[in-house]
Amino acid sequence: MDQNILKQASKLAHSDGAEPEQMAALFSDLVGLAQQQVEELKTLRAERDKADQNLKASQAQLVQSGKMAAVGQLAAGVAHEVNNPLQIILSRVQLLMMRNQEHEPLVQDLKLIEANVKRISRIIRSLLDFARHNSGEEDWKAVELMPLIGQTAELMRHLMDNANIELTVNNETEESPILYGNVGEVEQVFLNLLINALQATPENGQIAVCAQMDGDDVVIRVSDTGKGIPQEDLSRIFEPFFTTRESQGGTGLGLAIISGIIEKHRGRIEVESIEGEGTTFILTFPTDASE
Ligand SMILES: Nc1ncnc2c1ncn2[C@@H]1O[C@H](COP(=O)(O)OP(=O)(O)OP(=O)(O)O)[C@@H](O)[C@H]1O
Ligand SMILES: [Mg+2]
Repeated sequence: MDQNILKQASKLAHSDGAEPEQMAALFSDLVGLAQQQVEELKTLRAERDKADQNLKASQAQLVQSGKMAAVGQLAAGVAHEVNNPLQIILSRVQLLMMRNQEHEPLVQDLKLIEANVKRISRIIRSLLDFARHNSGEEDWKAVELMPLIGQTAELMRHLMDNANIELTVNNETEESPILYGNVGEVEQVFLNLLINALQATPENGQIAVCAQMDGDDVVIRVSDTGKGIPQEDLSRIFEPFFTTRESQGGTGLGLAIISGIIEKHRGRIEVESIEGEGTTFILTFPTDASE
């Protein structure tokens, strides 16, 4: 068809004269052709831009997971170094308590020290777990989802407390759903969603994580009573580099990275939001750990 229009145009250009109607029809065909080619160019350019953006996002993700692995290894080293002297302090405190049973005030002080050393030890242990999951060495395996969500929520607990936000985790599944995947990556998914929710939610707000079964799928809702997302942004929030938090250091990669992780785990993520009321992210994962 394009070739025909061009042939006709060339024929007319070489002929002595042409009917005005013939010229007009040809002109309109030529304009149509030009428009069509402009559209094709636009599509090509959009495709190229999209590919560019995906490439940039993959590079950023590589840098990010490299950094996470480095931080993980560093944290594991520090946690290990801190844990040894802690165990020595703990055993000495317990020895002192046994030797001074008759000194009630001293025993009370020692109990306080013991409780706090145990607390540091628990924090160090969860940091070690987190570091191990994110050291880049973790393999895919069957993961119990609810304990993982619980631990991730615990990591966020003090930030939530500081901001006066109530964080709840509800398991409405009968059993404990099992996901086949990479623990560190799945942890990252929930950590990112909780951080986003925290950043969007004002004081005295609520953030809730709720899990339910839907056939063989587990559906997890992460909802907040935060500022919500404007309708026109809803379709863009998963795009790499889309952020409304640029001035607060947001990179706009959080949701893009976790979308990739969720896809890798054969899951999907959807969002519902009402401006001024809150946002809910809905995650669906298959739970047949047969692979
Ligand atoms: N729970 C939420 N409530 C309101 N807006 C949200 C929520 N989660 C995400 N958003 C919006 O989506 C945008 C993109 O989120 P994303 O996590 O990808 O990047 P970011 O949080 O801006 O930056 P980074 O994750 O690098 O800190 C945010 O800037 C914000 O506008
Ligand atoms: Mg984020």
